[in-house]
Amino acid sequence: MDTSPLRDLRLRTPRLELRLGTRDELVELGRLAEGGIHPPETMPFSVPWTDGVGEPGFLVDFVAYHEGKLDEWSPEAWALGLLIWKDGQLVGTQELFSTEFTRRRGVGTGSWLGQAFHGRGIGTEMRAAMLELAFHGLGAAYAESSWLEGNEASRRVSAKLGYRDDVVNELSPRGTPVMQYGVRIDRTDWRCPFNLVIEALEPSTPLRRCLGTSPRRGERSLATEREKAVSRLRQDARASATASRRSRIASASAPRSSRRGSSASVSSPKTRSKSGVTR
Ligand SMILES: CC(C)(COP(=O)(O)OP(=O)(O)OC[C@H]1O[C@@H](n2cnc3c(N)ncnc32)[C@H](O)[C@@H]1OP(=O)(O)O)[C@@H](O)C(=O)NCCC(=O)NCCS
Repeated sequence: MDTSPLRDLRLRTPRLELRLGTRDELVELGRLAEGGIHPPETMPFSVPWTDGVGEPGFLVDFVAYHEGKLDEWSPEAWALGLLIWKDGQLVGTQELFSTEFTRRRGVGTGSWLGQAFHGRGIGTEMRAAMLELAFHGLGAAYAESSWLEGNEASRRVSAKLGYRDDVVNELSPRGTPVMQYGVRIDRTDWRCPFNLVIEALEPSTPLRRCLGTSPRRGERSLATEREKAVSRLRQDARASATASRRSRIASASAPRSSRRGSSASVSSPKTRSKSGVTR
């Protein structure tokens, strides 16, 4: 599928920019991962991919994995891995994924930051940006996430953003069992802590086609609402220009005596009723 419309998508938070990366930027992201995402004695990921750091081909596999998500993209199953820049510096990545979005309206998220960027609120800000895209940009009904036992930072990000506890599983990413805590937030509980700027989501129909998020019947898209508002403003402006033109003409053609009178005397009933309707 042609996923090129996704390249125009940009999310801007007060401090961050989120967008897809080029191949060179994915290599840079891989180098950031090589520099360390977590202390070696811990494993925050259910698939322990960071254990491959230092092995031959790590960077090539890393880039191929990220590019593969776009190659395998379909509206029924997609994973949007946006890269995160803070003050022009690449700091990590935030993923939003879904299967059968049109039917389920559910999304999941995953993320990481280079270790040097932890603990500055970036993880919370980038997750919030993706949730805002999911809930208000795409019309998701709920979002899920999970954290592995001991991952206090991930637990706190979810808790601060309003997720509630959901399911508990056991996983063994490194062979030893650890608990995995699933959390969930519904659209009705979501409040974005900042104004998110979303570029190129609307009215880009090809992009919506990629995400399988064309508004359902009866559901009005943000673009439709905006277009209607602009059209109403234009109509108002046209009506008021017409009214004042008519008023000038009527004033110019009225007898001297009535021109001195109130403005009501120079407006024809037709003009008045028209401006009344459009205001
Ligand atoms: C999880 C992660 C993305 C969070 O991003 P972050 O920028 O570090 O988190 P924030 O600065 O927004 O902090 C969120 C909360 O976690 C707390 N926190 C951050 N790092 C912490 C740590 N090492 N130990 C305990 N709490 C921590 C913060 O204090 C904050 O809570 P508070 O507001 O109550 O003080 C980041 O830490 C990371 O990349 N970790 C390694 C990879 C990972 O765990 N990915 C998630 C897999 S599910």
